[in-house]
Amino acid sequence: MIDLTGVSKVYPVKNGGQVVALDGVNLHVDRGSIHGIVGRSGAGKSTLIRCLTALEKPTEGHIVVDGLDLATLTGSALRAARRRIGMVFQAANLLDARTAADNIGYPLKLAGVPAAKRRARVEELLELVGLEGRGDSYPSQLSGGQRQRVGIARALADNPAVLLCDEPTSALDTESTAQILSLLRHVRDVSGVTVVIITHEMAVVREICDSVTLLGHGQVLQTGTLEEVVADPATPLARELVPMPVVESVPTESADSRFEGNAVGTVLLDVVFTSHPGVPTGATVLHLASSMGADVTAGTFESLGSVQVGRLALTVPAYHADKIIEQLRKNNVHAEVRAQ
Ligand SMILES: Nc1ncnc2c1ncn2[C@@H]1O[C@H](COP(=O)(O)OP(=O)(O)OP(=O)(O)O)[C@@H](O)[C@H]1O
Ligand SMILES: [Mg+2]
Repeated sequence: MIDLTGVSKVYPVKNGGQVVALDGVNLHVDRGSIHGIVGRSGAGKSTLIRCLTALEKPTEGHIVVDGLDLATLTGSALRAARRRIGMVFQAANLLDARTAADNIGYPLKLAGVPAAKRRARVEELLELVGLEGRGDSYPSQLSGGQRQRVGIARALADNPAVLLCDEPTSALDTESTAQILSLLRHVRDVSGVTVVIITHEMAVVREICDSVTLLGHGQVLQTGTLEEVVADPATPLARELVPMPVVESVPTESADSRFEGNAVGTVLLDVVFTSHPGVPTGATVLHLASSMGADVTAGTFESLGSVQVGRLALTVPAYHADKIIEQLRKNNVHAEVRAQ
């Protein structure tokens, strides 16, 4: 549905210099999927989305959205292609002097859709986003979450094939965020629209994304379905999606019964594994750990699609650490001594 090949964007800056905002980006997003784009500030996320909206042309490369190469279109063909792309902003960016219904119908008015048809579509959209009966409200009379619902309805008015969302929930509280995310998923489920979400919140990716791309310095550092990116728990996205459990204070000594109450030194192991249906790695790890004298000090489990990712902090007797690491690695479990 969306295919970027070799996309670069170079901005000229003062004194003849240049900034490489995107550097050879290759990216594929399946039709009807929800794709997250994450990365540090300055990584190129907004530049990427501006290129996807065709507001900017890449310096190099091709951006094919719904079969059309945005980089080569001009004039009316480009305007038609843009109508296939809906945009949701961080702050809903509504027209304050117009009602919710007028805001939603605005793109249809611009597209010359007759008033009666427009009204019917607006009613349909108000219902879709859970704002039946609120069409006459002005933005100032709506909550932040409700304004964002209006923003989503407006973006969907013209039946776009793609919905691009730039930080759609970062101005909202936890409850409104959850509602907006489930609305976006609902919209995708009923309309089949392809959704691209820029976000700095990993919780958003965990909650609704089918696939995700990590950008860094304008390059794709990692991309794939959630299952794919966590398959290797040592990769940056896997670490971000399922972070290491926090261990407040690391015990350095513990009583080991095999030494008749004598204190022995302990070390902390970081252990990471993925479980798939029918392969209960978690049970294997816990069994191995307890049979080898390790204590589970902290743990996190996260289900992403059909995969479960587990991270454990194990406190183990120092003299036994190497043996335990070896045993875990034999079972395809990633284990290392946590750096102090
Ligand atoms: N119009 C421009 N002219 C010059 N440089 C630009 C322009 N737009 C972006 N850049 C530069 O391109 C790089 C990527 O910027 P971009 O805004 O895409 O990052 P971002 O990932 O969206 O960051 P943030 O999370 O802070 O929004 C940055 O170094 C930025 O300074
Ligand atoms: Mg940005």
